[in-house]
Order: sequence, then C-alpha cells, then structure tokens
Amino acid sequence: MKQTILVTGGTGFIGSHTSVELIEAGYNVVIVDNLSNSKIEVLDGIEKITGTRPAFEQVDLRDFEATKNVFLKYPDIEGIIHFAASKAVGESVQEPLMYYRNNVVSLLNLLELMPQYNVKGLIFSSSCTVYGQPNPENLPVTEEAPHQKATSPYGNTKEINEQIILDYIHSGANIKSIVLRYFNPIGAHSSAHPSALIGELPNGVPNNLIPYVTQTAMGIRKELTIFGNDYNTPDGTCIRDYIYVVDLAKAHVAAMARVLDQDTDKIEYFNIGTGHGNSTLEIVETFEHATKVKVNWKYGPRREGDIEKIWGDCSKANSILGWKADTPLSDVLLSAWKWQEKLRADGVM
Ligand code: UFG
Repeated sequence: MKQTILVTGGTGFIGSHTSVELIEAGYNVVIVDNLSNSKIEVLDGIEKITGTRPAFEQVDLRDFEATKNVFLKYPDIEGIIHFAASKAVGESVQEPLMYYRNNVVSLLNLLELMPQYNVKGLIFSSSCTVYGQPNPENLPVTEEAPHQKATSPYGNTKEINEQIILDYIHSGANIKSIVLRYFNPIGAHSSAHPSALIGELPNGVPNNLIPYVTQTAMGIRKELTIFGNDYNTPDGTCIRDYIYVVDLAKAHVAAMARVLDQDTDKIEYFNIGTGHGNSTLEIVETFEHATKVKVNWKYGPRREGDIEKIWGDCSKANSILGWKADTPLSDVLLSAWKWQEKLRADGVM
C-alpha cells in the first residue's frame, strides 16, 4: 500500500519540487500550507507534471487545533517533511518574534501531534547556516563541523529547531528524524511541456542571487550588483554550494524511505549539496553562457552578514542515502531561465 506523507509548506519552492518527486516515487502526498508565501496554482503545476493532484489543506501550523484536524482527516500519514517556515534573513531581523512564532511554534505543534497520531518519521529542512563561516581547514564542511552562533533570527530558528528535535527524541518520544542541511537550492523543474513547470516565486525584489540574475536578464531589474570582489577567494567574489532543487527534492525521498523503512539511529544529519563551490562571478558567467542572454552587472560593496565561502562535504549522503546531486550547473541555470520565461509568458512578471 502507498505510504502517505505530509508535506508542510508543500506549495513553496522546495516543497513543491519535493511533492513531485514523492508522487513520482509512489507516495501519497498531503500538502499543508497557509499560502503566506506561495500560490494555490502550484497544485496545478504539480498535477500537470505528475498526473496526480495532491490533497491540500490550507492550514496555519501555528494553530494547534487546525493542525490536529489534519491528522484526524488523514489518519494514514506516516511521515512528515517539514518545510513550512519564513525564510528571509533581513525580514527576520526586523520581525524576530514573527520568525520565532512561525518557525518554532509550528514545529512544536507537529512534534506534539506525531506520537498521538502514530506518525513515525520527520524530515526537517535545516540549513548550512548552522555552520556559519567554517574555518578554512573545515572546508568542505562535514556534518561534524562546529556550529556557530546564528547571525539572524532566521538562522537561529534552524539551530533551535534542530535542538528541539534532538531534545524530544532524547526524552524518549517514539519518533525518528532526519535533519537535512541544505546548501543553496536553485533552478526549477524542467519538463518537456512548458506549461508543466514549477519554480521559485520571490515576493518583490529578490534577495537571493538566482532570481535576481534571471530578473535582470529579463529586464525586470536594471542591474545585478555582485556584493563584494575583495574576498579571499580566487576571483574575489563569494563562494557557495549551489544545488539543483530537483536533486535536493530527491534527497528527501531517499531520506523518507530511510527514516520510515530502515532500522536506523533515531536522529541523523546529512549535508545536502553538490560537494563543490562556485563563485558569484562564475554563476553569472555560466548563466550567460548557458542561456546566451546577457546580464547587466556591476561590483558593489559587500553585503552585511555574508559568509565568504562555504561548500559541503556531502559524502555521507552519497554513501548512506545512496543519493548524489549530479545535474550540471549550466542545465540548472538554464532551468531557472526557462522558469523566468514562463513567468513572463504567463504575465506574472
Ligand atoms: N549575491 C549577490 N548579489 C545579489 C544577491 C546575492 O552578489 O543580488 C551573492 C551573495 O553575496 C552571496 C551569493 O550571491 O555571496 C548567494 O546569495 P543568496 O542570497 O542567494 O544566498 P545566501 O548564501 O546568502 O543565503 C542562503 C539562503 C538563506 C540562508 C543562507 C545561509 O538564501 O536563506 O543561505 O544558509 F540563510
């Protein structure tokens, strides 16, 4: 029988791609989302790609009773992938209480309900942000690298939530968890049929590099500013581990199968990235080469709080989850561009 998975934040960027991969791997998917930062039409995209429309509940996970009703309505839920969270670093500095309430209370509610409704496994979406700027001798970072104090309330919620899950499992709660620490997810699902696309839909002026690049290439933004060219890196710009969102989504399917079906430790941690870094300049140049579209850009000052360089040692996920990110960067950047073109064609932006 098909196993049923609850995907919180399932209409968001990573959640929608993961829902597609879960459905294609043979799971039943129930999505909950409060649609605070995503659109209901994403369900159409998931349906067009997979031929299956996932069940959907518009629920705010801060609401304990409403969340409980999801488990009452879908008693077969065996696992949860918890994406639902606010994620803008700058906004979290302005609105810390909102970030703590959104990101921490929703996890508390889910954890409390899991044993009551016999839900065995939780995949938690964490971030390489917990490592801060690793010392050079710790690059690429492994899961054992020391954590550093978060530089924003957003980053702190990831650290706190990891700790809450660990404490709960230590208390003897009858659940298991896999914590996935993502590097920088980018790109969009590519499909032979252009209407069957899902992707990233930033609100307003994008903070993240790739949406800014695609919007500049489209002429929506005049110019991309590369934040800083005096870092201690080969070309002076920052380095990140950019992972294709579809590869990232597949890591969740592997993690879910492991947490539900295998006799493993009650909590495990995996870095989810490509294992190598690219500079901001390399990203812009690879984008131009892959798409044959020019991006106006200039160097500007460093962005406050930016990490100079980080990329992940993902060999643990490669060997234990049997998963690897293997989509070439130029294909990934092309997928981001196709998504931007679709947004234009649909009159979204
Ligand atoms: N960048 C630019 N110009 C831009 C936007 C970004 O040069 O207009 C550069 C940044 O300086 C950085 C790189 O592109 O060097 C990537 O920046 P992003 O904002 O896309 O990603 P970050 O690595 O800064 O942030 C990501 C997530 C955050 C998370 C953080 C740490 O987006 O949510 O990783 O985990 F907090």
